Amino acid sequence: MKIKPARRIRGRVRLPGDKSISHRAAIIASLATGTSRISNFSPSEDCAATLSCLEKLGVSIIRSGHNLQVSCEQGLSAPRETLDCGNSGSTIRMLAGVLAGQDFSSTLTGDGSLLSRPMSRIIEPLEMMGAEVKSQDGKPPLTVSGANPLKPIRYELPVASAQVKSCVLLAGLYSEGQTQVIESLGATRDHTERMLEWFGVPLERSTIEKNGSTTISITGSPVLAGRDIAIPGDISSAAFLIAAAALLPDSALEVEDIGINPTRTAFLSLLRSLGLAVEINQKRDECNEAIGHVRVKGNLPDNQRNDTSNQVRGRVIAQLIDELPLLAVVGTQLQQGIEIRDAGELRHKESDRISSTVKNLRAMGAEVEEFADGLAVAGPTSLRGARIDSYGDHRIAMAFAVAALLAHGDSEVVGTDCVGVSFPEFFNVLESVAQR
Ligand code: S3P
Repeated sequence: MKIKPARRIRGRVRLPGDKSISHRAAIIASLATGTSRISNFSPSEDCAATLSCLEKLGVSIIRSGHNLQVSCEQGLSAPRETLDCGNSGSTIRMLAGVLAGQDFSSTLTGDGSLLSRPMSRIIEPLEMMGAEVKSQDGKPPLTVSGANPLKPIRYELPVASAQVKSCVLLAGLYSEGQTQVIESLGATRDHTERMLEWFGVPLERSTIEKNGSTTISITGSPVLAGRDIAIPGDISSAAFLIAAAALLPDSALEVEDIGINPTRTAFLSLLRSLGLAVEINQKRDECNEAIGHVRVKGNLPDNQRNDTSNQVRGRVIAQLIDELPLLAVVGTQLQQGIEIRDAGELRHKESDRISSTVKNLRAMGAEVEEFADGLAVAGPTSLRGARIDSYGDHRIAMAFAVAALLAHGDSEVVGTDCVGVSFPEFFNVLESVAQR
């Protein structure tokens, strides 16, 4: 994909449904009695993988554009084939939690990237609960032999991961008694908790003020009743357009009806704290999730504060995890650049995102230091158009498409098909708002 620099971003857009919320809606609807209608379901390949796995488990899914009807009156049944999760870590980790509570065995696999991602983080708690999970040295394929009921556990997450938290909570639906998950390393996105509550599952949450550690408790065998759900636009997809608009002078962008769950808006808050003009309005709640409009103006040259040291680290990292490559691109335009630390998890994403980001930033002429747990980029840097490698990673392809808009000279992003993993229409939407 060839990308020319842009002068500014102008427009008003409405984006496809949130990927994280869509996975949960489809999975949890499959466990409920009756039919659930889901509107604005994510068109991402990741969510299509979740739907295809659910169908192989006996779930009925009727599609009409981006709307679905999901039902599974007889409960899940043993699949005849291997369940292919494609590129999707959310699919494999959350489904493994559900499959741990079934009285059959099933095998979950995925593409080359997924086969290299760590699964011990879910194998350990699921085995503590009484399921058996065979893996390839802690990596997929995973063969999950479930048990029902499972043993309730009290589990402190060893990594700040919403996927691991969700896996244990979903397995907790099948536990004999109360399962507890403790998040002590930082609060991760809480869509699973909200979706379970939307389906009538009572959860208890308590936070210790002193250290921010939260315990979520779920009691096994609740009754889940089918519900209708409207999925808000995907804020992690919006982030790319928002960053481009915030950095290109004279831009004005409005993103309508996107999810603004507080565990997902850290990127917007950070842009604001860096002096960029991002505001959220028309806030409201829908289907137990917060939704609103985001308005952005390109005001970088005048309003940027020079007095702060731009270091991003600690507990907030878990809430910025998908936006960190983009944040590094943003850092190239800031007076003091940006330093991102405590983000070693980035090395275990769809690509090693620290390495992919560092290599591409350097190709564009940025001065970058790489650390085991992050990177530091100097700013402000005038990026130059370059040949960029997506490393098969959707968020790298999109972050560097934004960098290409900011650069001097044309760029080429190699391997852009991967954007379909989360945001198939990304390049069309970007072109519709980029003015040259
Ligand atoms: C996700 C959680 C995050 C995130 C991923 C989606 C989710 O992964 O990176 O894109 O939907 O729960 P981890 O939980 O592994 O950090």
